Amino acid sequence: MIAADPTARLLVTGGAGFIGSCYVRDVMARRDGTRITVLDKLTYAGNRANLAPVEADAEQAARFAFVRGDIADPAAVGPLVADADAVVNFAAESHVDRSILDPAAFLRTGVDGVHVLLEAVRRETERAAAGMRSRPPRLLQVSTDEVYGSVEDGFSREGDALAPRSPYAAAKAAGELLARSYHVTYGLDVVITRGSNTYGPYHHPEKLIPLFVTNALDDRPLPLYGDGMQVRDWLYVADHAAAIDHVLRRGTSGEVYNVPGSHHVPNRDVVAQLLAHLGKPWSLVRFVEDRPGHDRRYAMDGAKLALLGWTNRVAFADGLAATIDWFRANEAWWRAARSGEWDAYYERQYAGRLANADAAARATTGAEAEPADVAPGSPSAGTGA
Ligand code: NAD
Ligand code: DAU
Repeated sequence: MIAADPTARLLVTGGAGFIGSCYVRDVMARRDGTRITVLDKLTYAGNRANLAPVEADAEQAARFAFVRGDIADPAAVGPLVADADAVVNFAAESHVDRSILDPAAFLRTGVDGVHVLLEAVRRETERAAAGMRSRPPRLLQVSTDEVYGSVEDGFSREGDALAPRSPYAAAKAAGELLARSYHVTYGLDVVITRGSNTYGPYHHPEKLIPLFVTNALDDRPLPLYGDGMQVRDWLYVADHAAAIDHVLRRGTSGEVYNVPGSHHVPNRDVVAQLLAHLGKPWSLVRFVEDRPGHDRRYAMDGAKLALLGWTNRVAFADGLAATIDWFRANEAWWRAARSGEWDAYYERQYAGRLANADAAARATTGAEAEPADVAPGSPSAGTGA
């Protein structure tokens, strides 16, 4: 069992992305002997610089290896899984808006890629059964609350039906269902986590919080979709990474664990809080055309993970402050992330929306007013903890 082995060899796929790199940095910083190999394709979202703190530390670097490659490539995956005690799969295309613009890459990594990983784990499981290795590798598949679809009220539990509504969410649901099928059919040691909306340092600026922080720092408009009343449950990245490690080491094979956040609020409220922290005005906000099929609310019950002994540590106000401070201090990092293909993406995703919002504002009463029930910096407008 990995829990009892401080010298475990982990293969972390997608470990150069936002959550995966936090996982790698935090596990390596424990200095407990764990060895990690990262396999990452380095898509637009992957960034070797996210692993610089590990590679710059001699003791950690000696326990670390980086391989650039695709989880959908059996030749790259096979030997790495053969050398691993466990695989933690973060690799995915992760942005819902991009899945609406172009779903193909989501299916290739989220379905074909997961299948290739599972086949490699299956082969190693068979080798363990034949006495050719001491134990089979465990696979942790990182999934998402989006597989439950939009939850109008109440809190999703692990046994609830899956009802994904975007190509991203459907690919994630397919990946975890495949993983579970390999547990049932071939006896693979698989655990699955379903995390909620994660935020923190190194978050790619395409996502709500880092997009709005970096746009606000540049006094650029903030494109808020629809009425801004969609509810998300915000989870600090170090808490998400630690919960994944907890499930990897203590979770029961074949089980799914929700990883809820600690701040369950409408987007408007999050935006008001981040603007207050930045000292920027609400007038930067533009209400723009909604995301097609936009899920209104996500909310998960975390009782199963709590029973396993994990609860979050970071309150939203503290996590948001730390995140904004990090973005202020790491301007070179986020400017680099907003380069290359960024301008073309931004134009495709936002130019029409922002132009229409400006035209609508001129035609009526001006920009929408700041929500009366959400004073900047105030706590939640009242949807939950
Ligand atoms: P991210 O987009 O920041 O990082 C994804 C990483 O995977 C990148 O480094 C990318 O280069 C790599 N990658 C993509 N395709 C690959 C492939 N075919 N082979 C190898 N590497 C590949 O994503 P993130 O926000 O860090 O999310 C990580 C995981 O957590 C994803 O599986 C996502 O679905 C899940 N998740 C994310 C959140 C969130 O709020 N960000 C919440 C719940 C679950
Ligand atoms: O819930 C978990 C999911 O959280 C993860 O599985 C995904 O990988 C991750 O990207 C995130 O998905 P969301 O779609 O919820 O995150 P995003 O940051 O894109 O959007 C958060 C909310 O903000 C959502 O209601 C859409 C809204 N939004 C987003 C952007 C980028 C806006 O209003 N304007 C924007 O420009």
